[in-house]
Amino acid sequence: MISFDLDTIRILLHLLGVAVWLGGQIVLAALVPVLRSIGEDAPRLAARRFGQVAWPFFALVVVTGFWNVAEVDPGSVSAGYNAVLGIKLLLVAISGVAAFVHTATDNKMVRGITGGGGAVAAFGAFLCGVMMVS
Ligand code: HEM
Repeated sequence: MISFDLDTIRILLHLLGVAVWLGGQIVLAALVPVLRSIGEDAPRLAARRFGQVAWPFFALVVVTGFWNVAEVDPGSVSAGYNAVLGIKLLLVAISGVAAFVHTATDNKMVRGITGGGGAVAAFGAFLCGVMMVS
């Protein structure tokens, strides 16, 4: 049945956070060559501004994620569901830590690995989330 209730708002906010955190990383990565052509500092400035927007949305994903967990009846889910949720939480942690190290480091190689790895981990969490509801 189609309805608009608290569950709608919970999932809406969870996916809004995902859209900005993961979608924003993909768009920012795509813009880097253009930003480089504008100026040496442009990618760094754009990334810093993106971070100011993205971190609150990451917090939104985590808060609504725990809200999701609280709404799921533990008796109604399979061991597979719990395993995918566990993998997802690990990937979320990797995504957050990698993004933090990515912005904090001065080492170019570490920046590259944590930038790419963090985005892949966020995508993996996205896949796990979809698997949990399909
Ligand atoms: C980058 C981080 C995350 C991504 C990309 C992500 C992605 C998703 C997606 C795509 C869904 C499916 C929503 C739907 O169509 O109903 C989902 C659901 C869910 N997420 Fe996340 N999520 C993230 C973080 C978290 C965290 C941190 C938690 C737990 C603390 C969590 C717990 C859940 C649960 C339990 C559901 C199932 C909700 C239900 O069955 O109603 N998620 N997530």
